[in-house]
Amino acid sequence: MDVAVVESVEQLVNRGKTVFEETFAYKPNVAACGPGRVNLIGEHTDYNDGFVFPMSLPQVTVLVGSKTDSGICRVVTTAKNADEPKKVEFSVPTSEKPLTPGEPAWANYVKGVVQHFKGQVSSFDAVILSSVPLGGGVSSSASLEVATYTFLDQLDPSQQNIDLKEKALACQKAEHEFPKMPCGIMDQFISFMGKEGHALLIDCRSMEARLVPLSDPDTVVLVVNSNVRHELTGSEYPTRRRQCHEAAALMGRKSLRDVTLEHLKAHEGVIEPEMYRRARHVIGEIQRTTEAAGALEKGDYVKCGQLMVESHNSLRDDYEVSCPELDQLVAAAMEVDGVYGSRMTGGGFGGCTVTLLKKDVVPQAIKHIKKQYAGEATFYLAAPSDGARKVTL
Ligand code: GLA
Repeated sequence: MDVAVVESVEQLVNRGKTVFEETFAYKPNVAACGPGRVNLIGEHTDYNDGFVFPMSLPQVTVLVGSKTDSGICRVVTTAKNADEPKKVEFSVPTSEKPLTPGEPAWANYVKGVVQHFKGQVSSFDAVILSSVPLGGGVSSSASLEVATYTFLDQLDPSQQNIDLKEKALACQKAEHEFPKMPCGIMDQFISFMGKEGHALLIDCRSMEARLVPLSDPDTVVLVVNSNVRHELTGSEYPTRRRQCHEAAALMGRKSLRDVTLEHLKAHEGVIEPEMYRRARHVIGEIQRTTEAAGALEKGDYVKCGQLMVESHNSLRDDYEVSCPELDQLVAAAMEVDGVYGSRMTGGGFGGCTVTLLKKDVVPQAIKHIKKQYAGEATFYLAAPSDGARKVTL
């Protein structure tokens, strides 16, 4: 059926054990994983104190390793079928000598989490492997941060009492300060808190969350990777964030969460048109997200699907973070009978779409999307999965 086969957590961990023994010449004794995510709806709302509605994916990043007493952290990562693993070494941070970001770029996610870990970090050797598509808009970065945090937790189990929200915030801080991506809280939060068979409606202001069952055997979530990544995400994301905050401030509010559409309309002409459209997306999207969660809870897939398409259109026209490839994938999906809804997911400018559809039309949907899409897409059936966890070796 052309659905990509995803390496299981066990397979990844076993591969990690082999690479570990080849690299460090002893056996590892600790492992942890953090999943990627797909957001069903609620895009670019998290940094506006709004709602998001993601679920954790079966695809994970794993760390396999051991605590050491050398004072040096040695980290190795390798892609499947890559010739040479990539290695990095850094000292355990102290208050006099904190870790700082630098090259290689991939290690910043790990170093950032080590630096912001809530507790005492000891040195370690670790291998990192991942089945989360890199740069696909399904949170490969957060899965690495959260897996790293959960791995560090295993090195000293006395430190595990910290609330998951605190851990998510520490990982977000790591991403802000090391790779320097001013992300919201959605990705780290869902990577810690995901639950098998459920999506999670998260209020990014109060950090309260509600599990919504997504386990109807006749309805599935299809993730389609466009396999394109336009180099705009890095520069455009902070700009969007700033525009939203400025728009809220111009309307005398702390965030766009506090602005209604009526309030916004009253400021038409006061706020410059581009900023106005950005705000209109966010305000509408916050509303759509709670409605979609309510619809899914009632099994109203048609309503949920309509809201997903409205979300896509708004991201394309008002927020301007889609791209022709994502638009093509969504349009093609919506031409198939039995597809409820489809939209881009994640930051945008490439990456994946998420589609809610009847299980028995998956083969037709894939066939049609393949025919209509000018590029090479990859297809994943996404079962809502558990959040970060320890893996027993
Ligand atoms: C990226 C960020 C998230 C969120 C999405 C857009 O994935 O990491 O915090 O803002 O973009 O919804």
